[in-house]
Amino acid sequence: MEGGARVGEQLVYFNGAIVPMSQAQVGVEDRGFQFADGIYEVVRFYNGRTFTLREHMERLQRSADGIGMALPMSIEKIGEAIVDFIPRCGVREGTIYLQATRGVAPRNHVFPKTPTSTLLFYAKPLAPQNEPGQGEGVKLLAVEDERWKRCWVKSIGLIGHILAKNEAASKGFDEAAFVEHGIVSECSSSNLFAVLNGKLVTHPVGSKVLPGITRLVVLQCAEQLGVTVEERPLREEEVVRADELFITSTTREIAWVARWNDRYIGQGKCGAMTMKLHRAVRDRVRAETTGPVRKSA
Ligand code: PDD
Repeated sequence: MEGGARVGEQLVYFNGAIVPMSQAQVGVEDRGFQFADGIYEVVRFYNGRTFTLREHMERLQRSADGIGMALPMSIEKIGEAIVDFIPRCGVREGTIYLQATRGVAPRNHVFPKTPTSTLLFYAKPLAPQNEPGQGEGVKLLAVEDERWKRCWVKSIGLIGHILAKNEAASKGFDEAAFVEHGIVSECSSSNLFAVLNGKLVTHPVGSKVLPGITRLVVLQCAEQLGVTVEERPLREEEVVRADELFITSTTREIAWVARWNDRYIGQGKCGAMTMKLHRAVRDRVRAETTGPVRKSA
């Protein structure tokens, strides 16, 4: 680490070095800054240990391939760098925010002939999450889906998501749910599940749905519990009448939904299926984040 750091300053992994945040400076012509030409990941760690790191690294590779961008090193090496970084960052419960861009080059829409890359990540502490079924339910606002058609890429170009989330927030809601031609796909920063007549239903991943890692874990837990799963488009009229609704993301795990626009969902409390699945996710977290630290993804 170089001199000039402020006492207690947050550390950042920045293009191969670990530096204080004030020294991690991105060039004006970084394509991430000018074009949102880059991708990101949010990886959760519990008790200093990563959860589903391999799945996040594999999605990072798919996102990079999806925008034709080379990562500066293998996802195995990136995973190792994350595992090495966590004990140094001063945080035990939190997330790693990672971003990779196509680097600095004279501004031109056409890809540079010899692209560089910018790879950085740092840790953000996260307050302990609610126990399954606890806390206030999430209020969802339905918004028109005006995003692009490659939502399976975890792109840093999030303005469509951000506008939707802010519309929801400005009206007193917690999350925006994207609706197009009456079909509900996902939310501005989470996946959506409905419980309909004892079945778990969620929209397939693809053009309009990010392959959420928590979504994947929930589907694996559902299979283990013998819950019937349907991956198919969800109609808004089904959603408003669902027995239970919940959203999933790395930061929230599972959060039960109390309202869809002005309508209350379920009995105004967390439903039994949501609770059961959240407990199963917690068991998986415990199994993966206790015991010895693994050196890589
Ligand atoms: N967001 N869909 C969207 C559009 C998302 O942005 C996210 C996550 C998810 C859930 O994916 P996962 O379970 O892998 O976190 C679904 C992250 C947390 C974020 O942008 O901060």
